[in-house]
Amino acid sequence: MDASRNSAAKLALQEHSEQFRRKEFRLSALFSPDTNSTDTNRFQEYSLNHEGLLLDYSKNFIHSETIPLLLDIAEQSQLPAAIDAMFRGEEINTTEQRAALHVTLRDPEAKTNTPEVSASLDRMEALVTELHDGKWTGYSGKVITDVVNLGIGGSDLGPAMVCEALASFATHKLCVHFVSNIDPSHLQSTLKDLQPETTLFVIASKSFSTLETLKNAEAARDWLLQQTDATATAKHFVAITTNLSAATEFGIEEKNLYPLWDWVGGRFSLWSAIGLPIALTLGMDGFRQLLAGAHSMDEHFRTAELKKNMPVILALLNFWYREYFDAHSTAVIPYNQRLSLLPSFLQQLCMESLGKSVDKQGAQTQHNTGDIIWGTAGTNGQHSYFQLLHQGTEFIPVDFIASANSDAEGGTQAHQHLLANCFSQSLALMEGKLDADSAHKVVAGNKPSNTLLLEELNPYNLGMLLALYEHKVYALSVLWNINAFDQWGVELGKELSSEVFAAMSAEADPDALDESTQGLIQKAQHWRKI
Ligand code: F6P
Repeated sequence: MDASRNSAAKLALQEHSEQFRRKEFRLSALFSPDTNSTDTNRFQEYSLNHEGLLLDYSKNFIHSETIPLLLDIAEQSQLPAAIDAMFRGEEINTTEQRAALHVTLRDPEAKTNTPEVSASLDRMEALVTELHDGKWTGYSGKVITDVVNLGIGGSDLGPAMVCEALASFATHKLCVHFVSNIDPSHLQSTLKDLQPETTLFVIASKSFSTLETLKNAEAARDWLLQQTDATATAKHFVAITTNLSAATEFGIEEKNLYPLWDWVGGRFSLWSAIGLPIALTLGMDGFRQLLAGAHSMDEHFRTAELKKNMPVILALLNFWYREYFDAHSTAVIPYNQRLSLLPSFLQQLCMESLGKSVDKQGAQTQHNTGDIIWGTAGTNGQHSYFQLLHQGTEFIPVDFIASANSDAEGGTQAHQHLLANCFSQSLALMEGKLDADSAHKVVAGNKPSNTLLLEELNPYNLGMLLALYEHKVYALSVLWNINAFDQWGVELGKELSSEVFAAMSAEADPDALDESTQGLIQKAQHWRKI
C-alpha cells in the first residue's frame, strides 16, 4: 500500500467531512431538489439491488463528491487485490498462516476444486435423511426425536440464529435445541423435558478444546449414562471438529465425525458441517438454498465494481463514520422478530473480527478500528433505547433490516404497521423535529442509517444477507489493515479462567492473584451452600 497516497486520500476526506459537521447542515436537505445538490434522485443514486435484497444508503452523509473520495480510500488500500486474494485462497489470516475460505463452502464448483467440501455435504445429507426418516435409533431402539447442539461462539450463534430466522421453513421432523453456556442451568433446563433414549447430541467445536462445550458434553454424556451403559455414547453423539482424535477419545465413532478445516474461521463456519442443526431443521434442500444465496453474494462481492458493490459500500460507510465522525457503535435493528438473534450473531462476526489495535505488520494502529455492534428486534427497541438514538449525545448510525413480506399467516395489517415503523424511524432519525415549543422536545435529526429490505425472509435471501455482512467485515479489515480472522484477545480470558479455577479449587495458591480477585473468590466460597 502506498501510505502517502492513502494519507492524502484521508486528508481529502477529513476536509470533505467538515461540511457535514456544520451547524446548518441538514441530511434531509440533500433530498430536496432546491438545494445545490447534484443528486437529483438520491434513492436511485444511492441504492443497490441484488436479487431479492435492496440496500438503500441514501440517508447517509454522502453526496456526489463523497463516494469518489471513499472509493479512493478503497483503491489506495488495494481492496480489489485483497478481495481476489481471499477468493484465491491466499494466506490472508497472517497471524495463523491460513487462508480464510468460507466462500468455498458455498461454491458449487467446490465439487471439483475441493472434493472434501462436497463429500462433507453428502455425509451431512445422509445423516439428515437417516434422522428425518426415523432410521437412526438410540440405545433402546427408539427413534431420535430431539437433537441438542453443544457449542459456543461460532459453533452456536450462526446455527441458532438461522434456525430461529427460518423457523417457518422447518420440516418439523425433529426438535433442535442449542446449549452454549457453561452455566449448568442452560443444559439442565434443556434436558428437563427430553428423554436420553430419543436424544442425539451434536458436539460442535472446531478445536474440541473449548471449556464450555467440553463440560456440557461431559454432563450430557453423564445424563445419558445414568440410564444405560457406555456403549450408548456412540449412538447418541456426533461431532463436528478439526480435532478428530480428541473427539474419538470422547467416545464418538469415526463414522459420526464430521470434519472441519483450519481455513474455516469459527464465526464464518455456519456454512460447513457446523450448520448441521440448520440442515436438520430445514432439510438439506433448505440448507443448500442458504448456501446458494451466500454464493450469489460472494459472486457479487468478487465481481461488482467497487461503487456498486454492496459489502464495499457498507464497509466504506462504517469507515466514514468511525474515522471522521467518531461513531463508537452501530445499531443493527431487524424489524423482523425471527431475526432477533441476528444482532448477537453480528456482534461476534464484527467485534471478534475487527476488535484489533495492531495492524497486519504488527504496529499499533493509528486510527479507530471495529466499533460496537448492538441491537434488538424492532419495534421493541423503539420503546426502550430509541430515545437515546433520537435525543442522546451519542452518534449512532443504524442498519435497519426488514422484509417486504411476512411469513405469518394473516396479520397483513400488523406487518404493514411493522414496516411503517421501520421506515418512519429512519425518517425520524434523519429529519428530527426542530420546531418545538420547548428545548426538551427538539429532536435534532441528522442521524444516518441504511435500510436493507428483503423481498422475503427465506433461506436464499438470508444466505445473501449473512454473506453481505461477512464481506463487509473483510472489506473493513482491509481498509484498516488489520487481520479479521484471528482472535488472540479471547485466548487470554481462557488462560486466566483456568488459573482462577485452580485457585478456587485449592489446586493453586490464591495469593498469586490480585487482591480484588482473591476477595471475590473468598466471598463466593463463604456464600457457597454446598
Ligand atoms: O470465543 C473464541 C472462539 O474461539 C470463537 O472464535 C469460536 O467460534 C468459539 O471460541 C468456539 O470455538 P470452538 O468451535 O473451537 O469450540
